[in-house]
Amino acid sequence: MSNRLQRSPASSAHQGTQAGDPIVQVEGLTKTYPARGRRSPAVTAVQDVTFGVERGELVGLLGPNGAGKTTTIKALCGLVRPDEGRLSVAGHDVERERRRALRHLAAVLEGNRNLYWRLTARENLEYFAGNRGVPRRAVRDRIDELLERFSLGARRNALVSDLSRGMQQKLALAVAVLADTDVVLLDEPTLGLDVETGYEVRGLLRELQSEGRTVIVSTHDMPVVQDLCERTVVIAHGRVLVDDRVDHLLRLFASRAYELELDRPVSDRQEAALRERLVRVTLLDDRKRVQVDLERGDDLYTLIDVLRDGGTLVESIDRRVIDFETVFRRLVRGERAPTPVPHADPLAVAARAAGN
Ligand SMILES: Nc1ncnc2c1ncn2[C@@H]1O[C@H](COP(=O)(O)OP(=O)(O)O)[C@@H](O)[C@H]1O
Ligand SMILES: [Mg+2]
Repeated sequence: MSNRLQRSPASSAHQGTQAGDPIVQVEGLTKTYPARGRRSPAVTAVQDVTFGVERGELVGLLGPNGAGKTTTIKALCGLVRPDEGRLSVAGHDVERERRRALRHLAAVLEGNRNLYWRLTARENLEYFAGNRGVPRRAVRDRIDELLERFSLGARRNALVSDLSRGMQQKLALAVAVLADTDVVLLDEPTLGLDVETGYEVRGLLRELQSEGRTVIVSTHDMPVVQDLCERTVVIAHGRVLVDDRVDHLLRLFASRAYELELDRPVSDRQEAALRERLVRVTLLDDRKRVQVDLERGDDLYTLIDVLRDGGTLVESIDRRVIDFETVFRRLVRGERAPTPVPHADPLAVAARAAGN
């Protein structure tokens, strides 16, 4: 029993699933919270949410407040009962084989609800280890090691209620890590933390992944996802908007964001024509620099035509660097992940179109 606390990925990794199956599966998750009186009508928190997570992935569940992230995480923990849909962890159905499914999973929910505030940091770890049927003596070393690793050693005997928010969050994470499960779920783990502790928590999540665990982290904080995750499931208004690699999303959106430098200012007539035919036209530097998004394959020709009609010369054209926050805002506003502008080299196309 004691070896449950010594991380041994090989031993627990292949129960219940075939190699290659997603270790976490959410299929068609739908949940409506019933109305509570006239003032609070029924809310459909998630609708047909579907995604899978492969063993060893660190995936971001990203969405604005109210998107349905917590509901999804709670459903995976068996704390919210879906109206529709199937969820499984390590091949076990969360509803029908609840105990087996939950054995593979540890979660840090919002507000550190997995801690006892009137116990000390160390007592919490001892309590939760004991709760999982592990003798205290067997875990003592492991607890000391975790307290050090999470920089909580100096505060090991402080009551949780006396710890800072960041320390509480790290302790909640340590409790989850002690459970030694294949999958760790974290709901908004960096929310309300100071910058430094936020980075520390990110580092700890990376460590979990490098130990071979599967980590799902919900957040509304784009930099967390950009920094931490290879893949993200973006949800808004209870629906999955996109499920893709973070670098892929950045590339797709960047591939249609351009910046042109011109030899003279854009005229009012040109501006009106651009705004009518293209999206997101921004004029900078006394109107001699234009930023545009090219949505359709022929938008670049439109742009060049309008400029050429006014006798304007293009001095340079570049792809604009775009950050994940911009991508996220666009997705949440209802834009679909774009297909790339179908020209391998926009500079060559621009040169051709401009007759250079
Ligand atoms: N227990 C509840 N009763 C009623 N509505 C709820 C409950 N929990 C969440 N909601 C509503 O469901 C929607 C999704 O909430 P939630 O899953 O907490 O989203 P997120 O974690 O992304 O902010 C929100 O509109 C929220 O107000
Ligand atoms: Mg939430």
